[in-house]
Amino acid sequence: MIPFLDLKAQYAETAAAVQAAMERVFQRGQFILGPEVAAFEEEFAAYLGVPRAVGVASGTDALHLALRACGVGPGDEVITVSHTAVATVAAIELAGARPVFVDILPASYTLAPAQVEARITARTRAILPVHLYGQAADLAPLLELAKARGLRVIEDACQAHGAEYRGRKAGAWGDIGCFSFYPTKNLGAYGDGGMAVIGDPELARRLRLLRTYGWAERDRSVLRGVNSRLDELQAAVLRAKLPHLDAWNARRRSLAAHYTALLEGIPNLQLPQELPSGKHVYHLYVVRTPERDGLRRHLADRGIGALAHYPTPVHLQQPYQDLGFPPGSLPESEAAAREVLSLPLYPQLPESAVGAVAAAVRQFFGVPAAAATRAPAAPP
Ligand SMILES: Cc1ncc(COP(=O)(O)O)c(C=O)c1O
Repeated sequence: MIPFLDLKAQYAETAAAVQAAMERVFQRGQFILGPEVAAFEEEFAAYLGVPRAVGVASGTDALHLALRACGVGPGDEVITVSHTAVATVAAIELAGARPVFVDILPASYTLAPAQVEARITARTRAILPVHLYGQAADLAPLLELAKARGLRVIEDACQAHGAEYRGRKAGAWGDIGCFSFYPTKNLGAYGDGGMAVIGDPELARRLRLLRTYGWAERDRSVLRGVNSRLDELQAAVLRAKLPHLDAWNARRRSLAAHYTALLEGIPNLQLPQELPSGKHVYHLYVVRTPERDGLRRHLADRGIGALAHYPTPVHLQQPYQDLGFPPGSLPESEAAAREVLSLPLYPQLPESAVGAVAAAVRQFFGVPAAAATRAPAAPP
């Protein structure tokens, strides 16, 4: 059995620090907006190289409240991708705005910058690129276009903790970068959690108001807000785990390089590509083949967990079919949804398991395993 993910193995590595962190919170007796959240906001902002960060209840809320902090609301349009977690699109609608989709680049599965300009209307307020699978979208042309057209850039970095673009962290480029700490992420809590990282102090001030009923102080609301806070226990857990993030990402990169060395050259199997502009942190190791469903069944029959991220693009999901993007309107997103498959990859996965998964993949394609025994390329 090779599971797709094993969070118990990660816990075994950090149990003492996590338990001490949680005990600290229980002993202090403060569970909402206390010193753990404040400290983690500072530590995460410092890790990313940004001035400030605001902890919220989830990645979805980080996106939703980021948009609202930027003044995006009903009647506005936000340009994003359909090949993403539904949460990206749900967040835009939570802000009251309308999602407008552009297609993806097939090499990286991220937003195709050249398609954005044609989608800008008088109602467009923001561009929301998604750093999918652990790799940053091509931000430079988006930032340039946004500047020229007076638009905000909100980065969905929910799958990209520690990823880099042109030497700077993903999430640190736009007006606001949004992170999820869902347990399966590269940096995950033991429950839900999220963070918005922000340069502009005024945007940060608004986001802090929005996360607590718009309260400027207790019982005095100055904005229509919500309840969306990172809690003290999750912040304490995340503080215990943050020091491991770089090592975990390095291990992900090393395992990804091992997969790539073992799977290179199989006809009909596209491997993930790391763009020269950045550093991929392999939240997911995603291969692509027209025979995806057969490959997934073949792996499942051998006790290997593999998942499709995502099998249906958002514009074709039932509740979103009225957004004006019929089948065929986003061909690259639709083709990717039919063909992508994520193989098991997490920092505690033994290299022998990568070898076993790769052997099963090669067997499916009828390519002898012996051809693939050379040592993996060392990741940079
Ligand atoms: C790309 C992307 N955006 C947004 C989210 C939403 O994060 P959360 O589940 O913390 O709300 C996720 C994770 O689920 C995600 O992968």
